[in-house]
Amino acid sequence: MTKKSMRGKVAVITGSSMGIGKATARILAREGAKIVINGRTESRLQQTEKEFKEAGLEVLAIAADIATLAGATQLITETIKHFGQIDILINNAGMSSRGYFEEIDTEVLERMLRINVMGCLHPTKAALPYLESTQGSIIFVSSVAGIRGLPETGIYCATKMALTAVAESLRVELSDKSIHVGIIYVGITENDSGKRVIDKDGSYLLLKDRKQRKTQKPEQVAEAIIQMVKKRRFKKILTFLGKMNAIANVLFPRLVDRVLIRSKERIRKMNT
Ligand SMILES: NC(=O)c1ccc[n+]([C@@H]2O[C@H](COP(=O)([O-])OP(=O)(O)OC[C@H]3O[C@@H](n4cnc5c(N)ncnc54)[C@H](OP(=O)(O)O)[C@@H]3O)[C@@H](O)[C@H]2O)c1
Repeated sequence: MTKKSMRGKVAVITGSSMGIGKATARILAREGAKIVINGRTESRLQQTEKEFKEAGLEVLAIAADIATLAGATQLITETIKHFGQIDILINNAGMSSRGYFEEIDTEVLERMLRINVMGCLHPTKAALPYLESTQGSIIFVSSVAGIRGLPETGIYCATKMALTAVAESLRVELSDKSIHVGIIYVGITENDSGKRVIDKDGSYLLLKDRKQRKTQKPEQVAEAIIQMVKKRRFKKILTFLGKMNAIANVLFPRLVDRVLIRSKERIRKMNT
């Protein structure tokens, strides 16, 4: 794949009916890529497809649950049927959860692993043969919460940390095939209204508007993802806090522990 132009490239973005995935799909399409958008809720996906088509962007919408093998296979098979190739796979779909480990239903733990981990592994496995023939890119969308385990979002942290291992292994395993692998650690980002997180009992919580808090815009995250694809970069940590988190954990792990223990009640309140 050339390092700069997105023209004519086929990009599959999981979980792109809203939020960061939608912003990434929109920018890629504006740069000339043919985009495949995805989500489980058909009405929201169709609304996004309509918006993109009205803006003259080339888009295919596939409603599928990528946490299942059947859904991920459907996403990749329909993409190939329609566009004939895949150049970029952005494993973006993911959900956050709330609650201390001892309070969370076992079913929620399993659901989080299925969405955030299997939801990246299934599409990646299905797309690999096609990415090999285009020498394409796979990006994993992780979080600054995937650098160090945090109270209240422990299972979310665990799923995002798992993506680091997957990306690191794949990068080495695929080096002979010239497939680019990247992982991005995203900080707190402004959310679309309707963003949900999974509560400890498995119900959905509607996330409060984060516009008042210090957040990035989804478009900033999208630009960073696209730069990684263009420059074929491996790792990128977003936000000052994210970078500090990474450095402090290596240099002062005990201090980070102490700070987190002291602030755990504040973190709990912040997340509810
Ligand atoms: N927003 C942040 O502050 C932040 C910070 C760090 C990392 N991240 C990561 O960035 C990614 C995007 O976050 P976001 O805040 O933009 O999310 P979002 O606004 O909640 O959107 C999530 C998207 O993923 C889809 N989705 C969820 N589960 C799916 C599944 N099993 N199969 C197919 N689609 C699925 C949703 O549609 P349906 O619900 O209709 O399926 C929706 O389109 C996630 O991986 C998240 O962990 C976000």
